Amino acid sequence: MLKVVVCDNISQSGIEILKNDPDIELDIKSSVSKDELPNYLSDADAIITRSATSVDDAFLSKCGKLKVIGRAGVGVDNVDLSAASKRGIVVLNMPTGNTLAATEHTMTHIMNCLRFLPNANYELKYKHIWNRKKWMGIELAGKTLGIIGMGRIGSRVAVRAMSFDANVVVYDPYIKKEKATDIGVKIVDKLDELLQVSDIITIHTPKTDETYNMIGEKEIDMMKDGVTLINCARGGLYNEKALYKGLKSGKIRALGIDVFENEPQPNHFLQEFDNVFVTPHLGANSFESQIRVGTQIAKSVVDALKGRGYTNAVNITMAEEEISHLGKQFLGLAERMGSFLSQYVNKFISKAKIYVHGDIEKYADALALFTSVGILKNSIDEHVNYVNAPYIAKERGLEVQSKIYQGTTEFKNYLLIEAIYEGEKISIGGTVFEPNKARIVFMNGFDMEIELTGNIIVFQNHDKPGIIGMVGAVLGENKINIADFRLGRREGSGEALSFIKVDEEVDDKILDKILHIDGAIKVNKVKL
Ligand code: NAD
Ligand code: MLT
Repeated sequence: MLKVVVCDNISQSGIEILKNDPDIELDIKSSVSKDELPNYLSDADAIITRSATSVDDAFLSKCGKLKVIGRAGVGVDNVDLSAASKRGIVVLNMPTGNTLAATEHTMTHIMNCLRFLPNANYELKYKHIWNRKKWMGIELAGKTLGIIGMGRIGSRVAVRAMSFDANVVVYDPYIKKEKATDIGVKIVDKLDELLQVSDIITIHTPKTDETYNMIGEKEIDMMKDGVTLINCARGGLYNEKALYKGLKSGKIRALGIDVFENEPQPNHFLQEFDNVFVTPHLGANSFESQIRVGTQIAKSVVDALKGRGYTNAVNITMAEEEISHLGKQFLGLAERMGSFLSQYVNKFISKAKIYVHGDIEKYADALALFTSVGILKNSIDEHVNYVNAPYIAKERGLEVQSKIYQGTTEFKNYLLIEAIYEGEKISIGGTVFEPNKARIVFMNGFDMEIELTGNIIVFQNHDKPGIIGMVGAVLGENKINIADFRLGRREGSGEALSFIKVDEEVDDKILDKILHIDGAIKVNKVKL
């Protein structure tokens, strides 16, 4: 069984997916205090969180079996990605499910700030005051809305604001300018320009080292007097003390915020102002969005746990969906070739050079990554996968390089791996006969063709009559059945190399007997 612990509230539709999967053991811990939560995670294979759970290194150190973190939302600033990657944990998010909810929430904050509706509502309903003069608003039409960050949410806010006849100016140095100009908004190269011309400013960037506190005192000073500010993205993008100062001085006419630097935040110092409108991180909280996010994250977590795919993985450098069927066959082959090499050599491999030829050249880096997984996984205790392999390789001193193959080959696609260990070198070549016959076709100058699966004895000998028969006899005496046998010769060497597939693993005594056959040079076993 695969244990999934749900740490924050997700929709019932997501819970049902997990509950109904016969391979999943579900544990819902969304009502447990965050301090106690790690106590329930030692045997979790996956966790599902929202922004309320902080998944840092200390947290992860309590999750010994964790393989997948499902973040039911877009922002992964509450997850230490580097710590997760080092542990080989795949982090998945759900970036699009709540985009509309957050967009509409932003529009609601904008309109509230312009018309002060919550205050009017409060006065009329709870104080029974009918005051039409006091709550005079301003219109969005004709105003300039500055949008910092023109991604999924920012771009949708832009379209909605334009339908209100606002002029929209955006600042996002990381997008193609056409993304803004095609929908008719102005894009500026400098943040200062946006700050100076906007009546209302809303921010929609992720929280990164660069965006944290990107709006401080200096930036607020540059803004128009009476500016309205909105933050439905992440707490800390606007410096909270600078906001306080701007509100106190009257520079800021109104502030709408959904997110705080530290959450939960029931008593924030910004709440002392009547012209500050706060919501407790509700941007994603619409029924529709939570159904989308909860359902999708539950499905993705189950898929990832069962190895069926890694939808929206944020710490995998490879976009799996962009890899063709052939590419995937080669990745599997690269991993098996790496594993073969490390078992065959049975010593520390310090360098692996990966040469690729054909359509698979575009996957050179991914092939190098999978080769390193194969090499590493036999030699260390840790769980190695293609998330943590680069970290582990670096730690262990395994250098992996990928290059285009410059030699000649009869194969349409060809992968050659050269491993260096203790000053020696070994190389094996492989290909995939389409659609899915992955084979190694070369080893150290010997041509042959064999599938790299199961128990294999690799036997090198002087090429003279009768030797193979003697190997067969040793195996037969020990009741070891031969499933496949392939022999290669190296021209002019007088040597032969055999790959003997056997039904069960042979022990070292049997290998020793084979090595003592007259003419034997070397014998090794590998298991794939
Ligand atoms: P996105 O990744 O689609 O867009 C982010 C945009 O910010 C990108 O276009 C990027 O180029 C831009 N950007 C990055 N650094 C920048 C910088 N220094 N200056 C200007 N632009 C920069 O993300 P999204 O889905 O639109 O989400 C935006 C934000 O909203 C995120 O912080 C996300 O966590 C948050 N969010 C909050 C809620 C909520 O409940 N309040 C819900 C969903 C998303
Ligand atoms: C998000 O990043 O998607 C939001 O903050 C939503 C959430 O975590 O609830």
